[in-house]
Amino acid sequence: MIEHQAAPGWVAVENFLSDVVVHPDRALKRAVTTALEAGMPPIEVAPNAGKLLKLLVQLSGARRVLEIGTLAGFSTIWMAQGLPDGGRLVTCEYLPKHAQVARANVDNAGLGQKVEIRVGAALDTLHALEQEAAGPFDFVFIDADKENNPHYLDWAIRLGRRGTTVVMDNVVWEGAVLDPSMDTVNAPGIISALQMMGEDPRLDGTVIQTVGSKGWDGFALAVVR
Ligand code: SAH
Ligand code: DHB
Ligand code: MG
Repeated sequence: MIEHQAAPGWVAVENFLSDVVVHPDRALKRAVTTALEAGMPPIEVAPNAGKLLKLLVQLSGARRVLEIGTLAGFSTIWMAQGLPDGGRLVTCEYLPKHAQVARANVDNAGLGQKVEIRVGAALDTLHALEQEAAGPFDFVFIDADKENNPHYLDWAIRLGRRGTTVVMDNVVWEGAVLDPSMDTVNAPGIISALQMMGEDPRLDGTVIQTVGSKGWDGFALAVVR
């Protein structure tokens, strides 16, 4: 056990790990700066989490990825970089401005052919994807409005198949999962989705807590049975 003196902070360690191990490329770094310049909130996944998404896409052998919540395309680019030739990613974004910035970032990363950005409320897009028989998706990343997390989890199963990987961001929310009064808008949806992940016989999951540049949070990882 290391003695605790003035330990370096979480963010400094994250930056070290990102520099030494993660190596986000220029297109990924540009996706972050263009978002800031456009006045968008800095709520993209941390680089180490983005790299994990890429590796999970590769490890799962996914060819079809579904993302709910695009922002400026940072997590989109990471996941698309994990796709094989001919792989496709559909990402859902409510705000046209976000979608526009993301489109430019995805194109700048050389991934324009692989990525389709659907503008509108994700629940509408998910219905449309079902109508179009766009699935089954092999990998689903849920990272939009937390109120709808239980619905998005259900859609991930409906548009997935046995063995589909599901990742859900922001499931600790600075501890609000234990005290929903901290955020009465978002916490209930996060909690309900976690309960669903634990109880729904169609899912087998776990949760990893995280700290770093995005504060105290976590992500859930599940497989569709
Ligand atoms: N996955 C991104 C971050 C997404 S932030 C990354 O890590 O890089 C959440 C995004 O979801 C925002 O861009 C927000 O506009 C979008 N969003 C919020 N509500 C939505 C909805 N109902 N349907 C689709 N997108 C939504
Ligand atoms: C918020 C959303 C996210 O997806 C995230 O990772 C962090 C914050 C937000 O809406 O505040
Ligand atoms: Mg998130």
